[in-house]
Amino acid sequence: MRILTHSGFFVKVKLSGDEEKKGYWLTPSSLLLLKDEPYSVAPLLLTMLDPIFIEPWHHVSESFQKKEHLAPFEIAHGRTFWEYAVQDQRLNNFFNEAMASDARFVTSVLIRDCKHVFEGLNSMVDVGGGTGNVSKAIAEAFPYLKCTVFDIPHVVAGLKGTKNLSYVEGDMFESIPPTDAILLKWILHDWSDENCIKILNKCKEAISSKDERGKVIIIEMVVGNQKGDHKAMETQLFFDMLMMVDIAGKERDENEWAKLFYDAGFTHYKISPTLGLRSLIEVYP
Ligand SMILES: C[S@@+](CC[C@H](N)C(=O)[O-])C[C@H]1O[C@@H](n2cnc3c(N)ncnc32)[C@H](O)[C@@H]1O
Repeated sequence: MRILTHSGFFVKVKLSGDEEKKGYWLTPSSLLLLKDEPYSVAPLLLTMLDPIFIEPWHHVSESFQKKEHLAPFEIAHGRTFWEYAVQDQRLNNFFNEAMASDARFVTSVLIRDCKHVFEGLNSMVDVGGGTGNVSKAIAEAFPYLKCTVFDIPHVVAGLKGTKNLSYVEGDMFESIPPTDAILLKWILHDWSDENCIKILNKCKEAISSKDERGKVIIIEMVVGNQKGDHKAMETQLFFDMLMMVDIAGKERDENEWAKLFYDAGFTHYKISPTLGLRSLIEVYP
């Protein structure tokens, strides 16, 4: 209990009525780890701590030394994370549940504080939208907005849509269905700059509106936007490492984001740091 209290999972309190007796309360952060909490992120944490994701950390130095650059995950498991997820139903399921738990949490803030971003849109494609938790909440909040969750076949197979939400299988490196706007939540940090430019090019081709409705809405970290907050900055840097070790991706600072957008032919962007460690970035063709 001493280490858990020191690291902020519990606070020690005096129990009422007895000066001598002490008890422990959960803190606002650790409440988010309870299974029954509506915005629980326990599945995300348990996924990151699963041996499949921990083992690659033992292969970091090997990854730096190898001539052909292989991510630590690939060295540990002999395949990329995405190949592993297609072949292993258990990994596919718990990873999708992890993403869904994060999506529920982030979307609650998105709908509350960033409504204006979706106003005026007729259609939106959630590229790499997983099992659709972000889109479900957006489709409910904006009943006139036609939302499409677009992901690889084994993720969306058998999922049923609603009146204004549908699931489409596909590959974002091939083509993306035409739409006013595209949502990319936690997609680009999985990929190298070269692959991000390919994805952004496909997004540009898919955007049908030529006015300000036509945009890519990105939810990702902008590294360094929390400089005054030591813990927040440290978390961003550990996420950067996590992406490098498990997915061969990375987190990006504003200059790196801007370079990607301009290299992919977009003309301007706007960053709103409204989602805690993450930001909402609107990028315009
Ligand atoms: C980190 S998850 C993010 C899921 C979701 N956007 C969220 O934040 O909850 C990345 C998603 O990209 C999807 N994905 C990977 N490769 C893809 C591809 N080539 N085409 C479409 N989706 C892909 C994965 O299946 C996964 O659902």
